[in-house]
Amino acid sequence: MSEQDARGLARGLTNYGDKDFSVYLRNSFAASMGYSREVLKKPIVGIANSFSGFNNCHRHFPEMLEAVKRGVLLGGGLPIEFPTISLGEVFLSPTSLKFRNLMSMDTEEMIRAQPMDAVVLMGGCDKTVPAQLMGAASADLPAIQIVAGPMMTSRYGEERLGACTDCRRFWGKYRAGEVSTEQINDIEGRLATTAGTCAVMGTASTMACIAETLGMSLPGTAAIPAVHADRLRAAEATGLAAARMIDNPIRPSEIITEKSVENALRVLLALGGSTNAIIHLTAIAGRLGIAVSLERLNALSDETPVLVNLKPVGSNYMEDFFFAGGVGAVLRELKPLLHLDCRTVTGDTLGDRLAEDAGYVDRKVIASAEAPLEEEGGLVALFGNLAPRGAILKRSAADRSLFEKEGRAIVFNSLADLSERIDDPDLDVAADDILVLQNAGPRSDSGMPEAGYLPIPKKLSSKGVRDMIRVSDARMSGTAFGTIVLHVAPEAAVGGPLALVRTGDRIKLSVKDKTISLLVDDEELQRRKVAFKPSVQPASERRGYDRIYAEQVLQADEGCDFEIMQPVKA
Ligand code: FES
Repeated sequence: MSEQDARGLARGLTNYGDKDFSVYLRNSFAASMGYSREVLKKPIVGIANSFSGFNNCHRHFPEMLEAVKRGVLLGGGLPIEFPTISLGEVFLSPTSLKFRNLMSMDTEEMIRAQPMDAVVLMGGCDKTVPAQLMGAASADLPAIQIVAGPMMTSRYGEERLGACTDCRRFWGKYRAGEVSTEQINDIEGRLATTAGTCAVMGTASTMACIAETLGMSLPGTAAIPAVHADRLRAAEATGLAAARMIDNPIRPSEIITEKSVENALRVLLALGGSTNAIIHLTAIAGRLGIAVSLERLNALSDETPVLVNLKPVGSNYMEDFFFAGGVGAVLRELKPLLHLDCRTVTGDTLGDRLAEDAGYVDRKVIASAEAPLEEEGGLVALFGNLAPRGAILKRSAADRSLFEKEGRAIVFNSLADLSERIDDPDLDVAADDILVLQNAGPRSDSGMPEAGYLPIPKKLSSKGVRDMIRVSDARMSGTAFGTIVLHVAPEAAVGGPLALVRTGDRIKLSVKDKTISLLVDDEELQRRKVAFKPSVQPASERRGYDRIYAEQVLQADEGCDFEIMQPVKA
């Protein structure tokens, strides 16, 4: 048997210059773990487990892991778990996005280097899902993902609470003096009370729905609550499906295609999903040489309705979405717009899946295509002299009265500057100004944090101002809301036009025209450009991963992946 045809433990041998010795040594060391000879002849399903004590969202993974293993055994495979790094959203500094590419590299290399015939990816918290899909796409071994599933909601008095839209809602009230310190301390203990990912259509839930739409996870699994018994059954079914992929291999490159990526964009728009998802989907597709253009996003957005009434855009939570019909119900409404010939991990096509009985759909949570929540998609890309390569606005979570507006720019040149001045009672700011944050993009020292949701200055929030236009090269949490223009590319740190904005300049937003413009004449902009001095620490003064990141990270419109991780051109 050639090395290429080898299965199970015989795959990818450690090189000692003597193949038979390598087999002998590997069998001997594998036997030391208590496996019988019979078991060691089985094909292997690796299980990439991103459990971590620093990841609350994955706290139930030990139980899910057992269910995945049971499924693999049922399918005749040998399940072998291996750890990868994990990205617990709120435990990472400066921001989890900085480590998404590291996790993708870890996942890819461990899939490739270790002997396995297929792999189950156990992810969930925001960046873990795209990181695993990026790694699996590059490794291109048959792979299937099972996500953590969302948290259940909790209660505070009569209010239903779910991380993390309500985290922000109550923090805003606290800043405005409507909630006391005692109350906010109480609320803090009730926002996130079970295992699982954030309870709204934030980044984690959006990415789970995207993974299911792409065909990389089993139908119906994205929205099952983390603590529901169905999630364990889904984990078992995932293990079984992975074992079946060994004899019927379907590779990520056969599943993640131009067509399935377009389907995923449609679903993202119909969900009113997270702005982060556009960066992640671009990065996943990019690993297979598939470009996601923001112009195409706009074309799809013009004809894809918002169907899902979930926070932060609507009023419900992920557990409601699950009981309302989940991703399947959304896909059925979008059916005429979708490419139905896309293959999935089961071997079936999307069309096969949608030919099955729809089951119950709660129209209060998932609207029909005939009576959508909004006629146009949740996200829109803006272009103009302020964002030549694009910026993103989540229009479904924004205040429509601000969509066609010109205002005075109030500029903060860094996150430190923002936190120092935003609540200064002497800050010259009015409700119809436009807040601008510079140097928070991927190449900035802050590494593109979720800081685009600039707080409303206290002097305005205390007077009842709830939304203002905010513009930055940062990201925004998928659980946040407001008229927030994000991902401005090129970013300020590399001298993009955002770096040239000064307090007092006029900025014009037109969602109708899909533009964001800096109303300063070209000559003056040219003068400012000549005077521009980068404020980032040069890559040569950094070391390790920080240096690789500084040298390699691409702009937001390219998915913030690393240049070296792109496929080699033939
Ligand atoms: Fe993990 Fe929100 S913190 S999904």
